[in-house]
Amino acid sequence: MSISHKVLVVGNGGREHALAWSLLQSDQVTKVVCAPGNGGTARLSGCENRAISVDDFQSLEMIVQEEEIDFVIIGPELPLALGITDILQKKGIKVFGPTQIAAQIESSKAWAKELFKSAAIPTAASETFSEIEGAKAYLKEKGAPIVIKADGLAAGKGVIIAMSPTEADQAVETLFSEGYQKLVIEEYLEGQEVSVLAVTDGLDFRLLLPAQDHKRIGEGNTGLNTGGMGAYCPAPILTPALEEQVKETILAPTIRELRKRGIDYCGVLYAGLMISPEGVAKILEFNCRFGDPETQVILPLLKTPLDEIILACINQRLGEFPPLEWHQGHAVCVIAASGGYPCSYNKGNLITGVKTEQVSDALIFHSGTTYQGDNLLTNGGRVLGVTGIGSDLNTARSKAYATLESISFEGIYYRRDIGNY
Ligand code: AMP
Ligand code: GLY
Repeated sequence: MSISHKVLVVGNGGREHALAWSLLQSDQVTKVVCAPGNGGTARLSGCENRAISVDDFQSLEMIVQEEEIDFVIIGPELPLALGITDILQKKGIKVFGPTQIAAQIESSKAWAKELFKSAAIPTAASETFSEIEGAKAYLKEKGAPIVIKADGLAAGKGVIIAMSPTEADQAVETLFSEGYQKLVIEEYLEGQEVSVLAVTDGLDFRLLLPAQDHKRIGEGNTGLNTGGMGAYCPAPILTPALEEQVKETILAPTIRELRKRGIDYCGVLYAGLMISPEGVAKILEFNCRFGDPETQVILPLLKTPLDEIILACINQRLGEFPPLEWHQGHAVCVIAASGGYPCSYNKGNLITGVKTEQVSDALIFHSGTTYQGDNLLTNGGRVLGVTGIGSDLNTARSKAYATLESISFEGIYYRRDIGNY
């Protein structure tokens, strides 16, 4: 018996375009509605945009009823932290994404650190402070380098790595003066970072292929932090032995601890890990959603239909789900950004060279784009991502860059070193 699904994807980034595209690869998905979506999801065959913002829960609920949506996938952290899952679930709607309490694993660094400590999950030693004097006394005791993290969603701007005691003091003052109520101060860890995303139904979990993203704006990992300027998958740093370690010492205990607290976590647990030179994985942070741009390299390699995985999580049947299947090969995503990003930039510049999302072995996932008539215009800092797919990393990278060369808009900027590691 064939089943058909209509899915609502909430969000407007490259991640949501990749989710919509991946869902529509499945024979069972008849329609995707994206709210609010972007230029890419507007023209994706089988997908429709609705101009509803991600925190307008009432209108989102209406769309679910009107369109007879079978389940909803929440892309970004903001609506999760605001409790969208709780609200939709109360209306009997199936949602892939954690509840508000569970989303604190991303939205509150202090909550997350407390959870790691009580479950003995390897992480940087830390203390949480709600007043400046205590924080400064701790800094004096610990010296530098040291890491100061704001408690609360901060769009990647709430983490300061202080290389000197003066910088550390300043960071504490700045973050408290910006209105954050709590700060986490933690040990500086050396090593290599890797993103490991797991899907979970609250009982079991399955790892997606590991990916590495490039957060800094400049080549050679220099300059300001961004939402992510590119990514590649799979990341060879996650050897099979490390994968086992991450499962046993980080993911399984996290899910056990959540359950102990009465939390059935349904969604993505995205572990941002630091791998020490000795090969020990520690958790830097959890995100409660798919990563962007990681999703743009992970999903093109996924062979198992995404809707089946999501439904297994929603129905709490992941334990009996067959092993996830993957295409052989590698994916590299390069983000093209508006000049000036991550600071100020112009919108409304004409984009040329983008016809469809699929160009031979490259996929174009839009983020900050919009259509005005038939003109595709820039509409954000990260404008689009090009994912090249190949039998090896070099081929994948060459395909991404070759496709990018045919795309242009005023001020286009992208890093030329994505996937070099
Ligand atoms: P987070 O939001 O906690 O992942 O932090 C953002 C980025 O800051 C991470 O991706 C790391 O590059 C860096 N970072 C966070 N915590 C630490 C730490 N304890 N030691 C070194 N770098 C860190
Ligand atoms: N690529 C980083 C993130 O999604 O948070």
